[in-house]
Amino acid sequence: MQTDSSSRREIGVFDSGVGGFTVLRELRALLPTARLRYLADTAYAPYGNRSPEDIRARSLAITEHLIERGAGLIVIACNTATAHAIDALRERWPALPFVGTEPGIKPAVAASRNGRIGLLATPATASSARLRALIARHADGHEVVVQGCPGIVEHIEAGDVDSAELRALVQRHCEPLRAAGVDTALLGCTHYPLIEPLWQAALGADVRLLRIETAVARRAAALWTPVPDRAGLHIETTGDPAALRAWIARVLGWRDGEVSGVALPGLAMPQRQPRP
Ligand code: DGL
Repeated sequence: MQTDSSSRREIGVFDSGVGGFTVLRELRALLPTARLRYLADTAYAPYGNRSPEDIRARSLAITEHLIERGAGLIVIACNTATAHAIDALRERWPALPFVGTEPGIKPAVAASRNGRIGLLATPATASSARLRALIARHADGHEVVVQGCPGIVEHIEAGDVDSAELRALVQRHCEPLRAAGVDTALLGCTHYPLIEPLWQAALGADVRLLRIETAVARRAAALWTPVPDRAGLHIETTGDPAALRAWIARVLGWRDGEVSGVALPGLAMPQRQPRP
């Protein structure tokens, strides 16, 4: 890792794919002169179906790369990677500031009138010990209905943000929250705000939806000491840069920011190793 602080002039942001753009969007608004690098680990998305070990391995490889490119702050714009990797990242780079993304249980508790909160997340976040601990720490006697939502991220990654099939899937995942009568629901995956109207329609207009990306961006902005340099946005993907460029233009409407491909060390896949 570089130790000269003048060479650590970027904010590195990562997610399994396009979800972290919801955080990046806020960050760009708060820090218009910062130099930002976003890494979408598209080739390995979704993280939500992966093992904790795989998620940690990807997060370590990505962070190493972002540091090599000059990151002085890392924003983990992914609930799943935060749940399974932030401790390992902090242990490996103790001097580097990390900002994680976690569902806002505390604000949800403050917002709920009937004491029943829903939390929509990826399967890997929903089953994580870190989420259980967060709920135990902050639920304050409220019931928290945690729903893992397999399948949603795949649609969004493919550029589908409003098909009938996706709406039906969202509806299904929201049923346990409706049955429990929650009055507040947390979007516990950074992809989910990209289809916020679908969640709202499935839960009903009287359920308050809470998202976390503004708070994450504010925390990152507070930690960032501006370095005099050329502002800019560089987007990298382990997948197909042309496909990501098209996704960004279509879904976010952004025309700026370079998008390039990046090769990072892959996961060890023992079943594919040649036999001796
Ligand atoms: N956007 C991520 C999150 O916040 C990961 C989604 C996924 O890859 O499953 O959890």
